[in-house]
Amino acid sequence: MSDLTTRYMGLTLKSPLVASASPLCESAENIVKLEDQGVAAVVLPSLFEEQLVLESLRVDADLERGSDSFPESLNFLPDLHTYNLGPDGYLELIRSAKARVSIPVIASLNGVTSGGWIEYAKLMQDAGADAIELNIYSIATDPMQSGDTVEKGYLDLVSRIKKGVRVPVAVKLSPFFSAPANFSKRLCEAGADGLVLFNRFYQPDFDIEDREVVPSLVLSRPEELLLRLHWVAILYGHVDADLGVTGGVHSAQDVVKCIMAGAKVACMTSALLRNGAQHAGRVVTALNNWLDEHEYASVAEMCGSMSYNAVPDPTAYERGNYMKVLGSYTL
Ligand SMILES: Cc1cc2nc3c(=O)[nH]c(=O)nc-3n(C[C@H](O)[C@H](O)[C@H](O)COP(=O)(O)O)c2cc1C
Repeated sequence: MSDLTTRYMGLTLKSPLVASASPLCESAENIVKLEDQGVAAVVLPSLFEEQLVLESLRVDADLERGSDSFPESLNFLPDLHTYNLGPDGYLELIRSAKARVSIPVIASLNGVTSGGWIEYAKLMQDAGADAIELNIYSIATDPMQSGDTVEKGYLDLVSRIKKGVRVPVAVKLSPFFSAPANFSKRLCEAGADGLVLFNRFYQPDFDIEDREVVPSLVLSRPEELLLRLHWVAILYGHVDADLGVTGGVHSAQDVVKCIMAGAKVACMTSALLRNGAQHAGRVVTALNNWLDEHEYASVAEMCGSMSYNAVPDPTAYERGNYMKVLGSYTL
């Protein structure tokens, strides 16, 4: 039997399979089921900056001011007091999950600006969270806002969160940066202990008959893994953080690919939502079998074996590969 353990941000996980943030991790009962099926850590659904800002204004008994400070956005938002359990329910979930499982429980914050709301990371830590995952979901829609400004804002956010907690902090990143390798390196300098590649963005469709925007949540497909593998393979060995993959991890083979690219963890949501928690059990068994059959003694031995680390000029290599791929198509 191979050694499936992996070290992620200083935490020892019994395998690389992590359940990423989703409603599946919204109750202690489900988290127990995921642990029973071999999931090695869970990420709780995110608490949003907007929820925490509103909560702190409520505590000040000044809800009016709260509405004024983001009057338009309040109309767009769901019920902030109960969304993903609300701030108090969230801390309670951390406590009850920690009381019932032995796997690490990672709390998730979703925000963009460096306001007082980030102090909530410490409350998550004090409630027992083993790490914090920061999901920076923001679409830079303002034509006056430069990439540099956006990036500086994120770096400031990460360093301020890091200063407030002693548990490790991972950043769940978007693929849409002009220089992702440089930005990843600077996130690590700002204190990120882990980088999770990549966020999946909400991509509304159009109903062309009724001329309406149709919100849709489409679960991922395994092909989405390729973008993540590519970037993990590029970053491996060049950033001072543990790498994780989220997006398109559906099978044990996908987990093997993530590890070979250089990830310490492979996070799964869509496949678990589609097939139930038992799917995790099947994936862990198949992963073990795969390693045995291919005579790998451990996951660690495989890590980064398909990364770009040994490629002297990755940019030239990328251009060469691009030309080869285009040339490989025969009419
Ligand atoms: C229903 C649903 C809810 C999600 N909620 C969150 C969330 O609260 N915070 C977060 O960072 N990601 C959230 N995600 C994104 C997942 O954690 C994951 O990154 C994404 O689904 C890609 O992984 P997958 O291909 O395994 O599904 C959610 C995804 C789904 C499908």
